[in-house]
Amino acid sequence: MDTLHPTTESKPQVSDFTQEIETYKRDGVVVIKNVLSPAEVKACRDAYHNDLRKYGVNYNNLKSPSTHEALKKLQIHGSGGIPFYFCQWQLQYCHTNARYVEAQKALFAATWASGTEQHFQNPFAPFSATKIFSITDSCSFRLPSNVQDFQQTVGLHVDINPWDRYSGRRASKRWRPVQGFVSLTSNVGGFQCIPGFHKKFDAYFDQVEKPENHKQAFYAFKHSMHDGLHKQVVPVEYEAGDAVIWDWRLPHRTEETHPGDDTREVVYSTFVADIPLNKEYILEQRKSFVGGKYPPDVFNWWERGAAPGWKRESIKMLSPLGRQLLGFDD
Ligand SMILES: [Fe+2]
Repeated sequence: MDTLHPTTESKPQVSDFTQEIETYKRDGVVVIKNVLSPAEVKACRDAYHNDLRKYGVNYNNLKSPSTHEALKKLQIHGSGGIPFYFCQWQLQYCHTNARYVEAQKALFAATWASGTEQHFQNPFAPFSATKIFSITDSCSFRLPSNVQDFQQTVGLHVDINPWDRYSGRRASKRWRPVQGFVSLTSNVGGFQCIPGFHKKFDAYFDQVEKPENHKQAFYAFKHSMHDGLHKQVVPVEYEAGDAVIWDWRLPHRTEETHPGDDTREVVYSTFVADIPLNKEYILEQRKSFVGGKYPPDVFNWWERGAAPGWKRESIKMLSPLGRQLLGFDD
């Protein structure tokens, strides 16, 4: 089979992300506009819907009880998260998207890479930001609230252990100081966070008592002591085809109810620096990809068998950039 180069690679490359870097440094969250064209969004969504259909989820009949039952079975923790990780369309349009990759490299170079930038010090620096790796994360498929009541919002949280951000089930496997997704729909407010909290994170948690045996790389702001934080949450505005990147110290959540008549669809897709810990993870992730298994940062991944939506042909269809990002080539 011929190598399929992602269409995004043929786009003129914008190497100047000055504005985005400034925004990320200030707010800890930034929207990278137009990583996908409208035609690419459509192609990606069509392919996503096609794969969902194989599991009984029919985009063309969102109100159907059989779609609801199929979605309940497929989704992760009742939240509308879909356990697709290695689908060909995810890889092509999101996990190996050239513009998204360039933006992420520019952000790393201006922040985490030196180890001396204020608010972005870390134990892995200095490192080069000229090469990064792709973390193949899951997707979201949230139905409009007016057709279902079984998909729960993901409440305000951070995906790190506030008292030891480098430990925990996922954190010990790879270092991912930025999180992100490519949005396939224009649902303003679907993602919400507290801008600027990356600069306040340490001081805030100095005052919070560590719960006993807190070893998870996750913390939910459920206790009433955090009520003040909930008032600081704002919706992030983005359109279909944009990517959203946020700092791992920002409390974030999904919308309480999903208005309108269309689904909310995003592909969670992020990149990590080329450091030994991440390189090791990427080689494990490559094994999962080749074997059609869940990625290694999914809980009990080794017991879960085949990853939904996986096809062996996807490996042969990777672009040269995609092969590097996923650890097949240097
Ligand atoms: Fe999260």
